Amino acid sequence: VKKVELITSESNSKIVFGFDWKRVSEMIPDENVIIITDDNVKALYNDGFPRFPVLSITPGEASKSLSTIEFLVEQMLTLGIDRNGFVLAIGGGVVCDIAGFVASVYMRGIRFGFVSTSLLSQVDASIGGKNGVNCMLSKNVIGVFNQPEFVICDETMLETLPETEYVSGLAELVKSAFIKDPGMIGEIEEGTRSILLRDKAVLREFIFRAVKIKSTIVESDLRESGLRKLLNFGHTFGHAAELEYGIPHGIAVAWGMHSAIHYSYHRGYLKTTETERLNELIDNLGLLKGVSIDGKRISGHLTNDKKREGEEINFVFLSSPGNAFVEKVGISELKTFIESR
Ligand SMILES: NC(=O)c1ccc[n+]([C@@H]2O[C@H](COP(=O)([O-])OP(=O)(O)OC[C@H]3O[C@@H](n4cnc5c(N)ncnc54)[C@H](O)[C@@H]3O)[C@@H](O)[C@H]2O)c1
Repeated sequence: VKKVELITSESNSKIVFGFDWKRVSEMIPDENVIIITDDNVKALYNDGFPRFPVLSITPGEASKSLSTIEFLVEQMLTLGIDRNGFVLAIGGGVVCDIAGFVASVYMRGIRFGFVSTSLLSQVDASIGGKNGVNCMLSKNVIGVFNQPEFVICDETMLETLPETEYVSGLAELVKSAFIKDPGMIGEIEEGTRSILLRDKAVLREFIFRAVKIKSTIVESDLRESGLRKLLNFGHTFGHAAELEYGIPHGIAVAWGMHSAIHYSYHRGYLKTTETERLNELIDNLGLLKGVSIDGKRISGHLTNDKKREGEEINFVFLSSPGNAFVEKVGISELKTFIESR
């Protein structure tokens, strides 16, 4: 078992890899526990759940709303969960975002931990303490920073993940390498075949590496005033595409990274050979297979970007494979670029 300790001034979180998720009982109290999951994960894994009441939500982004939070709080009150209670989330990013939020506000905050079941959630969503729900069309606008006590990343659970969801998670894994780890890019290139075959040992190592990158960044900048912005690589165009087309988060991010790579090239930051190499990796992993996005259709959403500051957005560029930096760019310039794609 490998682990990463994510230590911030506010709280600590322990992330474990290669740990059988069914041993989660060792990490939670003996009573006063509530399990939050979704219907898909429950159908597949219910038999291994610890013996506590289970609240299951409808799978999908639409569940990330205040009405789900209210439903969960009502159920928890009815079940008699008190301020010493514990919320155990077993699910992907949607379940972890919701469960982390409800645990943070229920009776002003109770303890919580995650069994992270999707690749996207293992490498990204369950790490770093951002929890929240959506409102109207704005993602994650109601939320808190609060670290789970533990996150279990058991790669054996990824076997049951639908192909699109697996590929969506791969995009965030690749993102970690693109922004921070030149060596990891080479290893992903060499390991492409094993990754696509979901080789457990190979995945475990890459998930560990991605989490290490994210937690190091989060430790140095919990509230996203500087370095943490790098994690938004691919997300400016990606979020716009996700909103317009309703495609999975990671797929949209893959398209956003592809565009941001071109934009970095266009600005003279990346060389031709570097640009080709990165795009080839995106292609070889099948991240954009069957994806067709019209830049003209998504450009309008840039105006509503949550991260905009006046007429500008902090855009994440690559200066070379494995090195990223942030630069403010005018929204009109971003629109002109993306409309030409
Ligand atoms: N908090 C953060 O820092 C952060 C970071 C990135 C993304 N997110 C959020 O994460 C969410 C996306 O996460 P996601 O991609 O995990 O979505 P998700 O939770 O909706 O899971 C994707 C699908 O896979 C199913 N699933 C999950 N685990 C499975 C398994 N082991 N086997 C079979 N099916 C399984 C789910 O039921 C769902 O249908 C978005 O809401 C996004 O905003 C949060």
